Amino acid sequence: MDKQEFPKGFLWGVATSAQQIEGAAREGSRGESIWDRFARTPGRISDGSNPGVACDHFHRWEEDIALLRRLGVQAYRFSVAWPRVVPDGGGAVNERGLDFYDSLVDGLLAAGIQPFVTLYHWDLPQALQDQGGWGNRKTAEDFVGFAAAVSRRLGDRVRSWATHNEPWCIATLGHEQGEHAPGHRDPAESLRVAHHLLVSHGWAAGVIRESSPGSEVGIVLNLTPAFPASDAPSDADAVRHFDGAFNRWYLDPLFRGEYPADAVADRVRRGHLPAGELPFVREGDMKSIATPLDFLGINYYSRVVVQSSGTGEPVAVAVAPKEQLTDMGWEVYPQALEDLLMRVTREYRPRKIFITENGAAYTDTMAASGIIADTRRVAYLRNHLASAHRALEAGAPLAGYFVWSLLDKFEWAHGYTKRFGLYNVDFSTQRRTPRDSAYWYRDVVAANAVDAGAPQSAMGRNP
Ligand code: FCB
Repeated sequence: MDKQEFPKGFLWGVATSAQQIEGAAREGSRGESIWDRFARTPGRISDGSNPGVACDHFHRWEEDIALLRRLGVQAYRFSVAWPRVVPDGGGAVNERGLDFYDSLVDGLLAAGIQPFVTLYHWDLPQALQDQGGWGNRKTAEDFVGFAAAVSRRLGDRVRSWATHNEPWCIATLGHEQGEHAPGHRDPAESLRVAHHLLVSHGWAAGVIRESSPGSEVGIVLNLTPAFPASDAPSDADAVRHFDGAFNRWYLDPLFRGEYPADAVADRVRRGHLPAGELPFVREGDMKSIATPLDFLGINYYSRVVVQSSGTGEPVAVAVAPKEQLTDMGWEVYPQALEDLLMRVTREYRPRKIFITENGAAYTDTMAASGIIADTRRVAYLRNHLASAHRALEAGAPLAGYFVWSLLDKFEWAHGYTKRFGLYNVDFSTQRRTPRDSAYWYRDVVAANAVDAGAPQSAMGRNP
């Protein structure tokens, strides 16, 4: 198959997040985060590990910038640890914490790499959790203080800001399904959390625009397209239900200033919300949430196939053969990325879209020569880029793409067992080794094109 060229100026990047790579959990007066605490609770992290050291990026950031240079990427998406900057969440700003990001930003700019900053990638200061966390509206106010501190310090150099990463995961995995910190199982709380995240996004956007004039402000959503398990009308309804709770619950407030009525009705029926007014919405909130976005960040990994349970709720069903699953158990389904980009473009008309995360966890082996032939990861990335390219050609305002991730890292409840990195990390030595996907991606970036049919053997392995 032929080469698919991307438009001039298309931005190529890689992504990470603070809690997953930085380590140095107790240095520089950093406060405790909810993930530090969660990881110390027995049974929460599958391998019993914690993010205390992770990739030791806090000490090795210069080496990691060198890795970015070797990839040739033009942008690097990372997050700022709230507990480093405001250790107790809402009180005094810790300038030493900001110093770290100051150096990182300068180092990136000196390397010709644009910093794409995400403010909240799940590491809430534990002190705020002790006061109710995101379920408490005051946390939304404290987030604005944090956003102000960071954007005042870095706003002269950072041109791209995302407020939150994946509010669905925070609300649902953290507060409804109990798999992520803080590990609650309370559907009513999770909806309140989602609302406070969205309101704080809108408020923070205003503050960031003031301290960082001319920069772009957006938010990052994980969007998961749903497909019906059969032609039965009940499965079509399961798709509607899933889509309402997962995708439209965030897209509709952000782009239309309202929660989707059918999805609200689902929650009322399930007893998660009272009938009538939404109890957590205050005057002006929906307008704040719908403040125009400069860009929408989309994280895409997989699709889901759903059917209706006996009680009318959507249940995911496994349809894909094992070979089509990554180590996360997620089906490899590139076509849904094109469909998703087109759907969002058509229905919500974002000014600009970045794919802020896309990638795959696979276990691969390092040959004696040091070569890691991660052919499945290369195929995953190539096929998703080809899918994204089709959406671009069809008119999606896609401006850039970030691989998840630069490094193997602390993968939340999975600890260190799921490897997403273009670079393999040996956590006993902190040695970073490029996988074949790193070389492959370097060539994609250099060519500004994906060769959809390039044979593996064509891959150059120069250092
Ligand atoms: C996303 C998260 C990211 C990482 C990937 C695999 O949900 O944003 O931190 O865990 O999934």
